[in-house]
Amino acid sequence: MAIVNIAGAGLWVGDFGSGPPILLLHGFPLDHTMWSGQIDALCVTHRVIVPDLRGFGQSAVTRVTMTMERFADDLIYILNALSVNEPVTLCGLSMGGYVAFEFWRNNPGKVRSLVLCDTRAQPDTPEAARGRLELAERVLGEGTCAVAEAVLPRMFAPRTFEREPQVVEAMRNVILKTNPQGIAATLRGLSERRDSRPLLAAINVPVLVLVGSEDVISPPGEMLEMAAAIPGARFVEIPEAGHMAPLESPHTVNHELLTFLESFRATPL
Ligand code: MLT
Repeated sequence: MAIVNIAGAGLWVGDFGSGPPILLLHGFPLDHTMWSGQIDALCVTHRVIVPDLRGFGQSAVTRVTMTMERFADDLIYILNALSVNEPVTLCGLSMGGYVAFEFWRNNPGKVRSLVLCDTRAQPDTPEAARGRLELAERVLGEGTCAVAEAVLPRMFAPRTFEREPQVVEAMRNVILKTNPQGIAATLRGLSERRDSRPLLAAINVPVLVLVGSEDVISPPGEMLEMAAAIPGARFVEIPEAGHMAPLESPHTVNHELLTFLESFRATPL
């Protein structure tokens, strides 16, 4: 574990195992614990770097709008601070995927491969962006309950709510503990994120596109379209999982991740 200091702000970063580096980027409004089912499985063969993005988990909070570019810039500082000089696999879920697209846009030479989990390439519609700005005001006025109520019902598949309510409760606790300022700053940044669809056809590293079959936020049909636009991308649907596929079906997701990582490990850069 390390605290990486960026201009006086400390960012918490987990750093486990050794081997080719893989960065796991959490979704909104969560923290690194959403990857708790992946870290042990991946760190047998890889160096697993798992930050709490600025404003989340144990990282410093900011009132400045957190655009996806700002999060991606933080990753560059983190990699430098941890002396990671080789290209990395970026594995991002939902907002983590938006950040991965921004990282790719400005630093393609630093990317070994991409795993795009339950994410979207398109920007918000004007209505969705307005909804985010309203939620940002509400979370500042009413606290994090407002955001937990808004997002949790759509995050998981029905099977998870029925059979593994503790998984839902763990994420509720993460949200409730998060600083409302950080959530509001990120909601503003999410509302103005760029369209990443124009990037897709030029992605020339191995890509795994992974989605829960019951994801209602980034639905399988939309993710299949994204995968079809990326040359050579592998598309995998995880049965009976929702938007949080890595938490809901860790064994299946780990199998897919390890198979993908192994598929190009021996290929020279
Ligand atoms: C996430 O899981 O990161 C969110 O669903 C992203 C979003 O609200 O667009």
